[in-house]
Formats: sequence, C-alpha cells, structure tokens
Amino acid sequence: MRAALGGVYPWGVKVLVIGPGGREHAIVRSLLADPAVSEVHSAPGNAGIAQVVPTHAVDANDPAAVTVLAEKLAVDLVVVGPEAPLAAGVSDAVREAGIPVFGPSKEAAQLEASKAFAKQIMAEANVPTAMARVATTAEEAADALDAFGAPYVVKDDGLAAGKGVVVTEEREAALAHAQACFDAGGTVVIEEYLDGPEVSLFVLSDGHTVVPLSPAQDFKRIFDNDLGPNTGGMGAYTPLDWAPEGLVDDVIRRIAQPTVDEMAKRGTPFVGVLYCGLALTSRGTRVIEFNARFGDPETQAVLARLRTPLGGLLLAAAKGRLDQAQELRWAPESAVAVVLASENYPDTPRTGDRIRGLKKASAVDGVHILHAGTKLDEDGNVATAGGRVLAVVALGEDLQEARERAYEGMGQIRLEGGQFRRDIAAKAARGEVRVPERAGKAGV
Ligand code: AMP
Ligand code: GLY
Repeated sequence: MRAALGGVYPWGVKVLVIGPGGREHAIVRSLLADPAVSEVHSAPGNAGIAQVVPTHAVDANDPAAVTVLAEKLAVDLVVVGPEAPLAAGVSDAVREAGIPVFGPSKEAAQLEASKAFAKQIMAEANVPTAMARVATTAEEAADALDAFGAPYVVKDDGLAAGKGVVVTEEREAALAHAQACFDAGGTVVIEEYLDGPEVSLFVLSDGHTVVPLSPAQDFKRIFDNDLGPNTGGMGAYTPLDWAPEGLVDDVIRRIAQPTVDEMAKRGTPFVGVLYCGLALTSRGTRVIEFNARFGDPETQAVLARLRTPLGGLLLAAAKGRLDQAQELRWAPESAVAVVLASENYPDTPRTGDRIRGLKKASAVDGVHILHAGTKLDEDGNVATAGGRVLAVVALGEDLQEARERAYEGMGQIRLEGGQFRRDIAAKAARGEVRVPERAGKAGV
C-alpha cells in the first residue's frame, strides 16, 4: 500500500474518528494497528474507545464543532462513522476547511438518508433492486400493498437506524406502520418482497474508484431464528463461504460502480463507504438498501480480518487515490461478532446498569471486546448508556471455532437484563445457508 501510494501516503498520520458506537471502536482499533498512524482521536467515543485513545465531548452531529475540533487537533484525516453526522453535513464542513475526510457529503449521503432518492439513482444507473412505490396517503399505501401482495414491506422514507422498516404477512400491520409514518409527517416506500439470504458488502469509494471489502452477513432481528422486531443489528460474521463465486465482482460491476459513476455524473461524488445491502434472490442479486457508511456490527467482524493497514486505505479514499491501492489482504480466519443489548432494546432500552466480566471475556483466545453504548459511572465502572452495549468479536480457524470463542467470551459478561442472540453464524457454520437457484448473477 505505502509503496503503491508513493508520496501520497505519509507517516505520522493523525486521525479523528467521529461517532459513539461499536463501529467506531472497531475503526479506532484498526487505525491503532496501522504503523503509519501516529495518533487517533475520537468524538464523542464511548467508555471502550476512551480506554485506548483521547476522546472529546463534541456533538458528532454539529458540523462547525467537529471542524473546530479537527482544526485544533491538526488531524490529517477525519473519519465519519454514523449516518446522522453525514446527513447533517459534517463531511462538507470538514472538507471545506481543507481537511481530508472519509465520509460522503450531505448530498451524496442522500443515498441512505432518503430511500426514494436511492431508488431514483438505482433506476438511472440501471441497478437491480426491489420494485417500489412511494406513498403519501393511506389510500396510495393500500393500493401499493395490494399491487405487490404479501409479504408486505413498508419503509419509512428517512433515517430510522434500521428500525423504520416493517416486513409482515399482515395487511393491517403494514397499513398501521404506513399510517404511523404519515402521522409523523413522513412518506413511505412500499416494496415487493425479496426472498433469499442477505449480504452486506462494504465498498470503499474515492468518488470514482471502488474497492470492495470482504462480504458479511448481519442479523437484524432481536430474537433467535430472525424473530421479533428489527434492530440496528445483533451480530455478524465474515467471510461467507456459501456465497456464489463471482458475487463481489458482480456487485461491483452491476451495482457499486454504476452507482458511484451516477453520483459523480450528477456532481455529487460519493466518497466513503457505499454499503450495499443485498438480497440474493431467486431472480438474481438485488439491492435492498444503500447506506452511506460502514455497517454496525458487520464492521466489527470485517475489520477483525483486514490485514491491509486501514489508515492508508481511508486516507487514499479521502484524497481520491484509491486507484493506487493494492489488492486488500485478509486474515485466513473467520470472524464472528455477537452484540450484547440492554433490556428492552430495541424499544426504550434500560441504561445505567453495570457491566461485569469484560476482562475475563477479552482473555478468551482470539476474542476482543468492542464497546458501543457504554459509559463510566460515578464510581468509574463501565455501565450501559444505550441499546446496543458492546460486541464480543472472535477470530477462529473456521466459523464454528469463531462462534465458540465469541460465545465463551459472552458467557463471561454479566449484565442485568442483557440480551444477545444465540444463533449468530449458526446456520452458516452448519452449512445450511441456501442461495436460491439462479442467484449470483446480479440482475438476471
Ligand atoms: P432496510 O432499512 O431497507 O435495510 O431494511 C431493513 C431490513 O428489512 C432488511 O435488512 C431486510 O431484512 C428487510 N427488508 C427490507 N426490504 C425488504 C424487501 N424488499 N424484501 C424483504 N425484506 C426486506
Ligand atoms: N447492520 C446494519 C446497519 O449498519 O445498518
């Protein structure tokens, strides 16, 4: 990477990572492992991030405040983790101040912030996705639901942290969700249902050149066997041994590159991670959604395997030099991330509870802990501060071993009311994930 990037890739790189979650902890951890990165800062961070780098109590969604901090710290790169600061224009403000930033502009982040906008771009770029209709009234919603039939898919057309989507067999429940979105002043997107396993593929983009990471699978529902409401994500694993050969190349060729090209053509180049949320359906690979950032908790698993120094890659993307990146290197092991959530998540989570056993958990072979919603309480103990609390991440020779290690680690942690899924990567480890026939060829 360094040789390939020549003079573009300096030593002593200082990086500021924006965001409070597990994804940001994973990014910070990988940056610290990059020998060319001399200093990492975080804002606002969490209790786990604060153990490894300086954290700054700055509002991540305030473009001016983040820019002032980046200037004060004289960083060479700002990495924006979550969607909210992107939608608020944090990247634009930092970029205007002349500091390289890994994260799309407010306009480019519309690919995530507005599902209707994403559909429009996909239509223009000829990217395969679910058929969809926008509805603004109960009548339009009912018409669209009847046009596509069950199972019904109703999506809030705005940022909802993965929780604005209802997939249901019940027409009444689908209508009720649409009505709730209308009552809140929003619109909805109603879609045809996509069958087949889901894949998260993160594609780094410098606005023109794209570089894919290793695909992962996320577990969105709160309970085992994909039951219960959607969450931000309860666990992930990578790589996907069951994925059809050529999947990543297909997604680049038919989905990621055309999307990035379309954004550049419109004068709103996409710099950052184009997160392709895919369904491998019986009719081919389809985009379920785009996100404009790394996924959480997939990043915790994916970065655990990345051996190419992360700082150099993100800086190359921020500077428009990804064309000079060498092929990425990956650890041969499998990685599993299991999320621990607090009681009552994804509803209103209970917070302020003490978390014990973290040292014992990270002492398990191949295991590390990445914090999300944690803080230090008055006595200096780690306590819960949000819905998703942390992830236990494990590397293992295969998925089975990575799973065993992750759950052994989780078994050491004590949190009153804590919830986690027992089946993360279980089907894949048993070789039971099936791709419907004809999937693997995007768009056929
Ligand atoms: P989204 O916020 O668009 O990612 O949707 C959240 C989750 O809802 C996805 O990860 C899928 O599990 C499910 N979902 C969304 N759209 C569809 C669809 N058209 N067909 C089937 N499931 C879907
Ligand atoms: N894990 C899903 C997301 O980050 O949106």
